[in-house]
Amino acid sequence: MRVLRLPEELASVLPSKGVGFVPTMGYLHEGHLALVRRARKENPFVAVSIFVNPLQFGPSEDYERYPRDEARDLGMLEAEGVDLVFLPSPKDFYPEGYATYVEVTGPLTERFEGAHRPGHFRGVTTVVAKLFHLLRPERAYFGEKDYQQLVVIRRMVKDLHFPLSVVGVPTVREPDGLALSSRNVYLTPEHRKEAAKLYQALLAAREAARAGHSVDEAEAAARAILDTIPDFALDYFAIVHPGTFAPLEDWVPGARALVAGRFPEVRLIDNLEVYP
Ligand code: PAJ
Repeated sequence: MRVLRLPEELASVLPSKGVGFVPTMGYLHEGHLALVRRARKENPFVAVSIFVNPLQFGPSEDYERYPRDEARDLGMLEAEGVDLVFLPSPKDFYPEGYATYVEVTGPLTERFEGAHRPGHFRGVTTVVAKLFHLLRPERAYFGEKDYQQLVVIRRMVKDLHFPLSVVGVPTVREPDGLALSSRNVYLTPEHRKEAAKLYQALLAAREAARAGHSVDEAEAAARAILDTIPDFALDYFAIVHPGTFAPLEDWVPGARALVAGRFPEVRLIDNLEVYP
């Protein structure tokens, strides 16, 4: 496994085709590894990036304290048979004078995560566009865990004619349903238990949909559970069109329930397809 830190070193080690690429911010867990394993299965060459991207964190967010463990991450990737890890420093990735940004505009980035984290998606699309140029993947892997991010990336790839396919990978969960996230380590033991109710709320919406209830009724069933979580400030719960994020009045195939909110120590997001 090669480990490279400088953008200009990549070209000499990358094959001209067959690169599967998994971008991450590190502090890896089984969710990231599901992406890596899928990439390993589908590509002769697997590249993973680890970069806590300052551009996608707001001024009051957790960039400084975002968990990092490079040695542990590298051990995990080595064990998965990864070919190349790209680990740039912020100074090499955004040198003095850096001034270029890639932005998906409109409702896709204005709603939900976009509304609660101004500038977040602009930071994500900028870093991912740069990484795509540097790694030149044929396939790139993203988790459904960050469903809005996945849809925004698909939009960017289409709009800018990146010659690659975006592969979405299902969310990996703890036994109680909590979606794996690098940030889960911040949760107090009590909030860790309560956090499983996010998934229970999503399941309640899906059950209501399957039982033939309306979108409003499914939403009410989910909110009834979310309302019982102590110390949890809900940012949003919504049932939306899976491609446009428009809130729904009637069911459409693939309808997606989205949830996000904050315990005092950490913000959590999750989502689930609730209508077949
Ligand atoms: P990060 O949060 O490290 O996640 C890297 C990738 O792993 C993302 O595609 C994310 O959706 C996926 N992932 C995280 N938790 C998952 C889970 N429980 N199940 C399945 N997939 C999961 O997302 C980012 O980093 C950044 O925004 C990035 C795309 C790297 C750009 O900086």
